[in-house]
Amino acid sequence: MSIVKVIDLLPGKVVPLQAISAEALQADEFWHRFVCRHEPVIIRGAAAGWPAVRHWAVPGYLESRCADEAVRLWRTFNPAPVLEGTAAMTRRPLKDCLREMREAPGDATFSIPGLDLPAGWAPDIGSLGMLSPRHERAPYGYPGKRLFVYRNASTEWHYHTIDETLTSQLVGRKRFSLFRPDRLTWDHVEPLVRYNYHHMPCGRQFFHADTNIVKHEGEAGPGDVIYIPPYWWHGVDPVDAELGVTLATCFRSPLRRFGSWSDPVTQELIGDVVRSNKASVPLLLAVLAASSLSRKIKGEPWWPMRKQPGAASS
Ligand SMILES: [Fe+2]
Repeated sequence: MSIVKVIDLLPGKVVPLQAISAEALQADEFWHRFVCRHEPVIIRGAAAGWPAVRHWAVPGYLESRCADEAVRLWRTFNPAPVLEGTAAMTRRPLKDCLREMREAPGDATFSIPGLDLPAGWAPDIGSLGMLSPRHERAPYGYPGKRLFVYRNASTEWHYHTIDETLTSQLVGRKRFSLFRPDRLTWDHVEPLVRYNYHHMPCGRQFFHADTNIVKHEGEAGPGDVIYIPPYWWHGVDPVDAELGVTLATCFRSPLRRFGSWSDPVTQELIGDVVRSNKASVPLLLAVLAASSLSRKIKGEPWWPMRKQPGAASS
């Protein structure tokens, strides 16, 4: 069975995703330097002290702490959007899924995405020092915590319109790639990804040569945490073929990072709400106006990310 990888399906220039040691990152610096500027970063070792990092890779450990949770087990990579009702998904006891995933051949693909943290596993999750209680407010849309248990399952290119994400790698290694589209990049890339042209054998032929995708890439191993801001497209590929576990922690975006009239993601969001939920349009426009005003008062730009020098093509 072939293993699907998604990152290299999008052409672009590759630059290193910036990284910082968890010991060197205080909560205030994380908030102002990264969250309030929408700058992604790998925070090395931020979850290294958690019992989950020490114990969850041991075969049988997680299985012994399952109750009777039934979960959705996919036999594919994680597509976006998810298409319900296909044969790729079954609903089974978590304990049985873990056993099957460990015993399968090395090229088998499995995914249990968006799993609520099982009660028996929760004591092994610690806190994240860069996230202060003052800033860890309930997310607007995403669950506060959700797990991804997988083997060989990449996560398709996608983006979030709201809520900040701290992705803690607990078992296994993953490669992360992120890019922030301007208007031209959006127009060139979004239709191709929406209709999966990038998965075709001739997929590269559809991308314009002047498409300005700058992919910020890095690997995360057990104990590393990646901050994924909204508005950044991201794709994820496992690096190894073992059973892996990732925890996504989400918290509410600050008002001034909610959206901008100039951003293609915001413009897409407005169009989606106009088409699907007209009653919410006035509220959305009011929050967007408040977000823009908030940035103006603080003197903060919407596009703060610096151009990266020395990019290499992929
Ligand atoms: Fe995501």
